[in-house]
Amino acid sequence: MAPPVALVRRLSRFSAWPRPFDPDAELDWSDPAFSRRLLAEHLDQTHDGASRRRTLIERHVTRLRQLLPDPPAHLLDAGCGPGLYAVPLAGLGYRVDGIDVGPAVIRHARKEARANGVARLTHFEVGDVRNLPAEPRYDAILLIYYVLENLTASRQASALRRLAARLRPGGRLVAEFRLRPDQPPGRFSAWEVADRSLLGKRRQLLLSDSVYDRARNLFILREVAVFPDGSVAVQQTTSRLLRFEEIPVVLARAGMRVIHTFDAWTRYPGSPLCDSVVVVAEPDQGSPASTRRAGSRRPGSG
Ligand SMILES: C[S@@+](CC[C@H](N)C(=O)[O-])C[C@H]1O[C@@H](n2cnc3c(N)ncnc32)[C@H](O)[C@@H]1O
Repeated sequence: MAPPVALVRRLSRFSAWPRPFDPDAELDWSDPAFSRRLLAEHLDQTHDGASRRRTLIERHVTRLRQLLPDPPAHLLDAGCGPGLYAVPLAGLGYRVDGIDVGPAVIRHARKEARANGVARLTHFEVGDVRNLPAEPRYDAILLIYYVLENLTASRQASALRRLAARLRPGGRLVAEFRLRPDQPPGRFSAWEVADRSLLGKRRQLLLSDSVYDRARNLFILREVAVFPDGSVAVQQTTSRLLRFEEIPVVLARAGMRVIHTFDAWTRYPGSPLCDSVVVVAEPDQGSPASTRRAGSRRPGSG
């Protein structure tokens, strides 16, 4: 049987080696249909794919209570997904705003807040960490589960500067960064027959091709789903990971000073050997970035 024309056309446009942030294939996280499929993965309790399972989130929320100022501090959960952290935090008495580019996850977060009786303590809206408005300012900002890694280095830097500008003096950022993916450096390709994936809910032949480029600290996952009617869907995600030593430098450029780095959600200090770290940082009033910010304020703008 001849291969489906759509598949051949689509694959012929592919570069032999995945290209980081390839505009032809890179995922649009704000796409409503994708957001609906991603929501199902966030809520799936059989894996920790898009969000962690609720039992694990409960433990993380207990840990966050130790890292955050006391309630009723005002928090921003940036890249909040379906509110699985924001809603329990509101349950502890925090006022929590959540933003995410995905419309379906934001709808779910609002529903979750109402179901848990914390709607009046929460505010969820579709928004992008790359262009946050200047107000309000928060007592703490959360970046949970590697929210910034799908941005290029320069966009990560500008998002962090904007987030830093949203912290009150004495406020803090609690951010989780992944230092390496769960595959060794190099390329890994596989295929499977799947009943559903993030590319579609139908049975499909799912081809995946991933490259961990340790020299550039990039992890690229390219996936192609071929459906029984011959249609194809393609998606790529590029993750720009930070090296352990790079984290304080990147945060300093954004006007923040690291005060703690932990090995993931433990109380142990982080190190370059960790797979991920949870970093607590605060605005550095004397840093060039915050001096520039203060200098750029119009007289009387507060
Ligand atoms: C791995 S999920 C984590 C969700 C949530 N923090 C959690 O742990 O349950 C990453 C989230 O970041 C969101 N996201 C990706 N890029 C974003 C951007 N530029 N601005 C805001 N949210 C973004 C995605 O839509 C997704 O919900």
